Amino acid sequence: MLSKISIIGAGNVGASCAQRLVERGYADIVLVDIIDGLPQGKALDILESAPILNFNSHLIGTNSYQETANSDVVIITSGLGRKPGMSRDELLSTNMSIVTEVTHQVVNYSPDCIIIMVTNPVDAMTHLAIHLSHFSRNKVFGLSGVLDSARFSSFIAAELDVSVEDVSVCILGQHGGNMIVIPRLSTVNGTPITKILPQEIINRLVERTINGGAEIVGLLKTGGAFYAPSAAIAQMVDAVILDKKKILPCATYLQGEYGIKDTVISVPVKLGKNGIEQIIELELTPEEKQALASSAKAVQELVKVMKLGR
Ligand code: 2OP
Repeated sequence: MLSKISIIGAGNVGASCAQRLVERGYADIVLVDIIDGLPQGKALDILESAPILNFNSHLIGTNSYQETANSDVVIITSGLGRKPGMSRDELLSTNMSIVTEVTHQVVNYSPDCIIIMVTNPVDAMTHLAIHLSHFSRNKVFGLSGVLDSARFSSFIAAELDVSVEDVSVCILGQHGGNMIVIPRLSTVNGTPITKILPQEIINRLVERTINGGAEIVGLLKTGGAFYAPSAAIAQMVDAVILDKKKILPCATYLQGEYGIKDTVISVPVKLGKNGIEQIIELELTPEEKQALASSAKAVQELVKVMKLGR
């Protein structure tokens, strides 16, 4: 019996997620959107590639949540994306109402699912989904550090002309301008980049990573990134569906870890069939701890605006 994954939102991120995940063959996929014909058309188009790519898992597009019933994993991508010059935080009020409606539907049809939040501002939206679903924090987490780490790794690999497979990076905190990139814990084949690259180059790559999403929004003008986000989501889903116990940086609801409470920020977690199975606490310098606390504060300020109450 294949797993069941539902993707809410058939925009570029949702649809490319559907494509990547159905091609893996380990789950049947349901792609949902409110726009009539959009999920149906994209699902049909992806399915028509099956004989070429040799996958037999099913994919349906629908405008109703009924087909999502009893999903193992639900990926929430619906909501407005940024326009050039916008911050993710500016999407809060619009996307808060969309994610509220979506979360109620998801919980109603799949009360035992794992929710992966993608909608921005993702830290706040993950917090909202935990609040509304009353799911435990190990079952609701967001796309954040996996995407930011992929960007930073790709920039380092290009700069040094090395394989991306030899780069491992460390990024914590908010998925946005307050993300915390930690060069001393970012390595190429085990050597910290601080011993390989001059500081000014490191600073340039860090800056480009922090602005990674905005750079693409600025280039595309009509929407945001979706190839790397969907690949990052698929890696997170692989860890859950295949019970990989893989350590990945995800937007996670902290309850005292890193000295931070009642806040969603990206930290390394062990992902497996039960979702977040362990939160990994890295040893940080006092400066890094301070930076992480400030990053968390930026998210807390945003969550306050949502007036969630207890
Ligand atoms: C990004 O950074 C969509 O927030 C995502 O591109």
